[in-house]
Amino acid sequence: MELKTRHLTPEEIDEAAQILREGMVVAFPTETVYGLGANALDPEAVKSIFRAKGRPQDNPLIIHLAIAQQVEGFVQEVPPQALLLMERFWPGPLTLVLKKTEQVPDIVTAGLDTVAVRVPDHPVALELLRLTGFPLAAPSANRSGRPSPTRAEHVLADLGGLIPAVLDGGETGWGLESTVLDCTVTPFRLLRPGGVTLEELRDLVPVLYQAEGDGTGTEAPRSPGMKYQHYAPEAKVYLVTGDGAATKIKELSEPYRKRGEGVGVMTWDERAELYPSLTVLPMGPEGNFAALAHNLFHLLRQADILGLKVLFIEGVSEDNLGLAIMNRLRKAADQREIKM
Ligand code: TXA
Ligand code: MG
Repeated sequence: MELKTRHLTPEEIDEAAQILREGMVVAFPTETVYGLGANALDPEAVKSIFRAKGRPQDNPLIIHLAIAQQVEGFVQEVPPQALLLMERFWPGPLTLVLKKTEQVPDIVTAGLDTVAVRVPDHPVALELLRLTGFPLAAPSANRSGRPSPTRAEHVLADLGGLIPAVLDGGETGWGLESTVLDCTVTPFRLLRPGGVTLEELRDLVPVLYQAEGDGTGTEAPRSPGMKYQHYAPEAKVYLVTGDGAATKIKELSEPYRKRGEGVGVMTWDERAELYPSLTVLPMGPEGNFAALAHNLFHLLRQADILGLKVLFIEGVSEDNLGLAIMNRLRKAADQREIKM
C-alpha cells in the first residue's frame, strides 16, 4: 500500500511518538545513521520494519534504549567487562550482543538466544525513546542492500511511500553504523567495526577480530547480517589500494570512457587533480577519516544520482576509523578489490 510519508521536524516529535505508540514504524536520526524504529516489544510492529526494508527475516535487529539501566529485563546478565564498556561508551556508537531473556520477541532477534542493544547518542533519538517509554528495535533505515541513510532525504529516497514518517534531525554525525561486539564469548568478538574503534575497545578489554574474507576461517558468520550484500550503488564498484592506485584506475577506466560511460573516482580532495577526465567524488581532506566516514554513504548514493556506470574507490589504511570505512567499502565493492 502506498502511503504519504510525513517529513516531521524535531518540533513535531510528539507526532512521531504517537505513530510509534499506534504500532507503526518511524525513521529517526541517531548519531551513526538513520534508524527505522518500532516498538521492540510489539512483534507486529517489528514485522513492519522487515516489510518496509525488504529485509530477510533471519537478520536480527538492534534494540535502542534511553538509558543503560533499561537492559535489565532484556538480557540475562551483563558480564563485568561489558559493564565497563557500557560505562565508557554509552550513549554512543557501540552495540553489545548479550544473552537475551524471554521478554525480547523472537522476531527481533531472528530466533537467536542473544540480543543486540545500544544507547544512541543523539538528542532526538533519546527524546523519542523517553517519550514512548518503550525500547525501539531499529535497523538502518535503507532498503535492504542499499547504503545506510545519513540524511532524511536518503530515507525518503529509499522508503518514501512505504513508511508513515521520517523524523528529520539533519545529517547524522558519524555516518557509519555502530560497532557490534559479541559479549557472549570470551574474549569478546568484534562482529562489525564502527564508530568505537578496535583500538579503543582493546584499551579496556581483550577483543578478537577476524576480518571477513581474510581466508583464515571457515566458520559460519556469527552476525547474520554479515552474509548479505550491502551498501551497493547501481554502479560497479572497484576498491583499489596501494601506491600505484592512480595509474591502475586510469588504465581500468579507459574502456568505459571510450564507450562514453560515466566513470567516477572517490579520492581525497588533494588527489582529485590526478583524475582530470573522471567524475571525482571527494572524500575530504587527505587522512581525515572522520570527514570521510561522515560523507561515505552520501557519496555512494551520489554515484547513482550521477548515473555512473563504474566507480573506483581509493582504499585507506585500516587503523582506527579506517577499519570500519574499509569494511563498508569492501562490501560496496562486493569482492572487487585490487591491491597494487
Ligand atoms: O548504528 C547502528 O547500529 C544503526 C543505528 C540505527 O542504530 N543500526 C544498524 O542496524 O546498523 P542494522 O540492522 O543495519 O545492523 C545491525 C547488525 C546486523 O549486521 C545484524 O546482523 C547484527 O547487527 N545483529 C543484530 N542482532 C544480533 C545478534 N543478536 N547477534 C549477532 N549480530 C546481531
Ligand atoms: Mg543496515
